[in-house]
Amino acid sequence: MKIVFTTAIVVIVLLAHSISQAAAEPKSSAGRDLYTQYCSSCHGLNLQGGNAKSLVDKVWQFGDSRRQIIKNTKFGLPHLGMPAYEKTLTDLQITQILDYLKEAESYYAVVKPGTPDQLKTLDYNINVEIFASGLEVPWSIDFPDSRSVLITERPGRLRLVTDGKLDARPIANTPKVLNEGQGGLMDVAINPEYAQNGWIYLAYSHALEKSGQKRPPAMTRIVRGRIKDHTWTDQQVIYEAPHDTYRTTRIHYGCRIVFDRDGTLYFGIGDRGIMQQAQQFDLPNGKIHRINRDGTVPKDNPFVKKSEALPTIYTYGNRNPQGLAIHPATGQLWQTEHGPLGGDELNLMLPGVNYGWPVITYGKNYNGTIISELEEKSGMAQPIWYWTPSIAVCGLDFCRGEMFKKWKNHLLVGALKYEQVSLLDIKDNRVLHEEVILKNAGRVRDVACGPDGAIYVVLNSPDIVLRLTPMQK
Ligand code: HEC
Repeated sequence: MKIVFTTAIVVIVLLAHSISQAAAEPKSSAGRDLYTQYCSSCHGLNLQGGNAKSLVDKVWQFGDSRRQIIKNTKFGLPHLGMPAYEKTLTDLQITQILDYLKEAESYYAVVKPGTPDQLKTLDYNINVEIFASGLEVPWSIDFPDSRSVLITERPGRLRLVTDGKLDARPIANTPKVLNEGQGGLMDVAINPEYAQNGWIYLAYSHALEKSGQKRPPAMTRIVRGRIKDHTWTDQQVIYEAPHDTYRTTRIHYGCRIVFDRDGTLYFGIGDRGIMQQAQQFDLPNGKIHRINRDGTVPKDNPFVKKSEALPTIYTYGNRNPQGLAIHPATGQLWQTEHGPLGGDELNLMLPGVNYGWPVITYGKNYNGTIISELEEKSGMAQPIWYWTPSIAVCGLDFCRGEMFKKWKNHLLVGALKYEQVSLLDIKDNRVLHEEVILKNAGRVRDVACGPDGAIYVVLNSPDIVLRLTPMQK
């Protein structure tokens, strides 16, 4: 008897439900009901937040694209208490919730908070100024001398800032880049002896233009040149991969360049989307490379005697390196790379070492399936630190100089997806502490400590460069 009674109630409730649905505005009503049922207990009945943040404040701490929001709902953020809805909701239902959130956002005319002008951290209160604006997908920043700053824009422009003023004209005659997917003009790096020799290095995606090919294959290429009369001159190709290794994929190019004190330089090339190739010695992708500053191969590179190996390879098993920096005190090479879903890594790079991708990883495929059961294996290095879910680590630099004295040799780590700059305190190759010092001001493409000791943050959306300096206390 009791059973029959409850069933009757369920039927009535379902009926009422479908009637109310028919009466409400057509598009988002399904999403609103799902939101109320599954999300409102934490994110607020009226979308205002509560046990968790509001989802209509235009602040997406963990990724603002539709794809990322869907992913965060599907797989959750377990370490923060955001449940995974993979088993409860279908992809369609999650999309309906998202449509509802987007409609509410525009209904309430929510605007994204602007650039903060101050930050509070444990050690410093910080002034934030917009150092450069009017850029398009700025990618990298470096400092030829105390007055000038160079900034790359991914579509293929090199921009000069002199005494804080951005020149409206890009540097003329820079190399033609393949501006597609994740490719374009990427890193700019100033030779440490720039004052004597004027060399500036650029990394970009270089396409092989063969006639009749719709989708030319491409690979990361490094050139150096000088700037005279606002024009790129004296160009020399410093690294070009064998042409049969060029790929038609448009992702995972790498690429940062960093100079070692011993006269060599390092740069990374991502796996170009073909993960197994990171373990192959005869291919340049999925590796960190080491070359002399003129492009020749150092005799003491780890694989010069291995006949099938490319002699420039320094490390392998690297998925998509996005940050490289030399520790100011130890001279060691540090690296960040993008993992798949989860498993962004901070690594200490040692010659000849296998960093394991894709044999070992802390990440999963973006569709949630397993890449590898293994998180560790003998003969493969473990990261010093990793981020799950992945924050989309990007530029990397150590703090130097007197301006942020308490942060001397601390590591700055930028992140695209989580829109943040993390500060890592590292001792004896271990991370003692992580503090997020900038959050939600935009996607962080690069971070750099300038010659003045200030922290420069290269942002995408908005496409600006911030300059951070400590406030006098
Ligand atoms: C048990 C509580 C809980 C429930 C229920 C819940 N969430 Fe969350 N959610 C969280 C927490 C905690 C976070 C982490 C951020 C914070 O503290 O607000 C989060 C974060 C998120 C984020 C990332 C936000 C950002 O800024 O990038 C999304 C997207 C999200 N939730 C969507 C949903 C959706 C959609 C539902 C319903 C299907 C849902 N959540 C249900 C607790 C919850």
